[in-house]
Amino acid sequence: YTIDWDASAAEKGGWDSFMDKEIHEDPAAVSNTLLGRYDESGDLDLDEVHIDEDVFRQIDKIIVVACGTASYTGLVAKYAIEHWVRIPVEVELAHEFRYRDPILTPRTLVVAISQSGETMDTLMALRHAREQGSRVLAICNTQGSTIPRESDAVLYTHAGPEVAVASTKAFLAQIVAAYLLGLYLAQVKGTMYRDEIHQTIDNLKDMPAKIQKVLDSQADVINQTAQRMSKARSFLFLGRHVGYPVALEGALKLKEIAYIFTEGFAAGELKHGPIALVEPGEPVVVIVPSARGRNVLHDKVISAIEEVKARGAFTIVVAEEGDPDADRYADVVFWRPPCPTLLSPLVDVVPLQLFALDMARLKGLDVDKPRNLAKSVTVE
Ligand code: G6P
Repeated sequence: YTIDWDASAAEKGGWDSFMDKEIHEDPAAVSNTLLGRYDESGDLDLDEVHIDEDVFRQIDKIIVVACGTASYTGLVAKYAIEHWVRIPVEVELAHEFRYRDPILTPRTLVVAISQSGETMDTLMALRHAREQGSRVLAICNTQGSTIPRESDAVLYTHAGPEVAVASTKAFLAQIVAAYLLGLYLAQVKGTMYRDEIHQTIDNLKDMPAKIQKVLDSQADVINQTAQRMSKARSFLFLGRHVGYPVALEGALKLKEIAYIFTEGFAAGELKHGPIALVEPGEPVVVIVPSARGRNVLHDKVISAIEEVKARGAFTIVVAEEGDPDADRYADVVFWRPPCPTLLSPLVDVVPLQLFALDMARLKGLDVDKPRNLAKSVTVE
């Protein structure tokens, strides 16, 4: 007799889709991207980047150019790098950046973030930046691809090959790489104490286990919630601070693979417009910051939940374990372990990836190859 050999099933290593497999590789994407980037003392070691320390010391502005999920990495990194390095970080969609007249000097570092390294919009933006005399550093997941080849320097993410069209593990790896760059700049410019840098690296090293905990402990509640929501026609996503780009990414995942109308907003913007969309039964997903350290943003986000609930919204929140307000005000909570605020996107995004996957599966869709989309868009 013969055994049917399905090469694609074998590549998926037992998972029924690449996306499922790749979400479960989130923890490894983080740990592999950290590996070898610091020495025994805990100092950052980015010799592979081949840009002189003196050049880094002179950098007075960063502009991140990227598209899609990679652009949300840029938004996350802005909060961390401005805090750590005290230089302005602008984040711009590559196609918008290219066709205006951006202010670029030799002291501007342009950071091009791309999983594939082949996105034409991002490539055109980096060419433009180099023509104007700025240095370009690529954060990329694909060895030897065009974007790193055309950049002055490259910091590779080590997420491993990503096959599903919707990006998942690469997003986490990109955040880690962008943070390593920020910490390195802080080290070179002396804007952070060495102990603080070492502590942040240690905190990053703790993240894979926390991500794994979310994957292991939240899968059931996420799946049940997806079943409850399977008829929903639209979703709103709200977040603040680093939770804002996480909300944008959660909205993007759900729209890309489940074909549901979604929109992500900064929670503070709710009263300036989006609240008009809330009618009874409307699902609203909210990323809640930690309540620890008397975080004022926590209370503001909780009151956003109250606002939408008062108008009949069905609230699904991502919150830190033990947050009593999340429990009290939300209809459903996806819990994640405690961690420093700047690192929280690495855990907060995970349940949103799983939720999008479950929603698409329930609709019987091909999660790896959503309609009309391509893994890398090589035309402008
Ligand atoms: C496409 C993909 C997205 C991805 C974006 C940027 O639109 O569908 O998942 O985020 O390109 O791709 P890149 O390879 O540059 O990160």
